[in-house]
Amino acid sequence: MIKLFCCIAVLLYITASTSCNLSEDILKFADAQLTNTVKITQGGLFANNTLPSGKWTYTSSGAWTSGFYTGCLWYMYALTNDTKWLERAKATLPYLSREQYNKNTHDIGFIIFNSFGLGYKLTQDQNYHSAVLNAAAALSTRYSSKVKCTKSWNWSDKDFPVIIDNMMNLELLFWAAENGGRKEFKEIAINHADTTDSNHFRKDGSSYHVINYNPDTGLPKFRGTHQGYSDNSTWSRGQAWAIYGYTMSYRFTKSEKYLKRATISADYYIRRLPNDYVAYWDFDAPEIPKAPRDTSGAAVAASGLIELSSFVSGEAKEKYLTAAKKIISSLTGHDYLARDVKGFESILTKGTPFKKANLFDIGIIYGDYYLLECLYRLKNL
Ligand SMILES: *[C@@H]1O[C@H](CO)[C@@H](O)[C@H](O)[C@H]1NC(C)=O
Ligand SMILES: *[C@@H]1O[C@H](CO)[C@@H](O)[C@H](O)[C@H]1NC(C)=O
Ligand SMILES: *[C@@H]1O[C@H](CO)[C@@H](O)[C@H](O)[C@H]1NC(C)=O
Ligand SMILES: *[C@@H]1O[C@H](CO)[C@@H](O)[C@H](O)[C@H]1NC(C)=O
Ligand SMILES: *[C@@H]1O[C@H](CO)[C@@H](O)[C@H](O)[C@H]1NC(C)=O
Repeated sequence: MIKLFCCIAVLLYITASTSCNLSEDILKFADAQLTNTVKITQGGLFANNTLPSGKWTYTSSGAWTSGFYTGCLWYMYALTNDTKWLERAKATLPYLSREQYNKNTHDIGFIIFNSFGLGYKLTQDQNYHSAVLNAAAALSTRYSSKVKCTKSWNWSDKDFPVIIDNMMNLELLFWAAENGGRKEFKEIAINHADTTDSNHFRKDGSSYHVINYNPDTGLPKFRGTHQGYSDNSTWSRGQAWAIYGYTMSYRFTKSEKYLKRATISADYYIRRLPNDYVAYWDFDAPEIPKAPRDTSGAAVAASGLIELSSFVSGEAKEKYLTAAKKIISSLTGHDYLARDVKGFESILTKGTPFKKANLFDIGIIYGDYYLLECLYRLKNL
């Protein structure tokens, strides 16, 4: 009865978009979960995944996911205006600071932009600003003018792998170029988005996870997957990164080409969703309907769709906003929210970081991060 009431409340809130008890309700739950997480997390460690038991595992600053934990604390501050969250977010930054010079990973975008970048947006602290510019400079060293992309992973001298996730890290470059950084950062981001637009997508609008380029010729030599089910399947979180990444690229450039790629990616994603709008980990997973879901990709897609809806009008606007709301309403209902699972430490359950590595049906810090971002974006619509 109570569960039913909550679901209806969520739906009401989301449909009416008025501030009422749902967002309060979800926010209260997120507050409790993250307050506990802060309490049990030692300085220098970052909440990462929950085990099937629901207990957090941690990672150090250099992991690609570290910035999301700080980002969750910032979004709590943005959503509640309670300075305890400001203090909690700030307390993690000294441990992340060294990563602003990290040239070994394209994920410096996730690491630094979601922590220092979001912190700067909320506080205007100049120290955070310089960390973001330094990180953009570090990411720009991974750019090849032959391939016209930034490299995702250091495999070997003969490989230049680029993953669809990498679209997300362009935000660091676009933002830095507009906020006192080198103009060249924007060119790099545009070239990366253009190259990805040409090579990462199939005719039906679906995406490959990995394109491995020949670094000498700049031509693709492999199109396939790393985390998805197969080379020709569509990994749902990858498709979500595409929606979000091209919508964000449109925000900075107003290039119609990016808006088109975002809508094609979104249309494909929505077309392949199950009834409750929470995607299976791969749209082509053979064990569907018994396949694990990926709530993290669902939250990424919902956040991207909210922004996408603000760039289009009429039926398209309605379509993307409605899909986002349906996703969020499911994620915050009893099937996926951790509220009804005793002892579960993340906000969401049923995320799938990497199915083939046996990481599925667990909480993931970036699932929680993008869910909070959805609440923030809805509030500011
Ligand atoms: C929201 O909560 C307040 C008090 O907590 C209550 O008075 C009000 O009726 C609730 N509104 C809805 C729509 O449930
Ligand atoms: C952190 O989580 C990611 C997946 O979200 C995983 O790839 C990585 O191995 C985890 N790190 C640790 C130290 O557990
Ligand atoms: C947030 O809190 C500050 C004080 O800490 C106050 O000045 C400001 O008006 C508050 N903003 C909102 C939107 O409540
Ligand atoms: C990985 O590649 C980047 C760019 O090519 C380079 O700057 C960095 O030193 C490499 N890292 C390692 C550990 O080889
Ligand atoms: C992928 O390719 C295999 C083998 O060619 C084929 O059996 C399968 O149906 C394809 N799957 C998709 C999603 O196209």
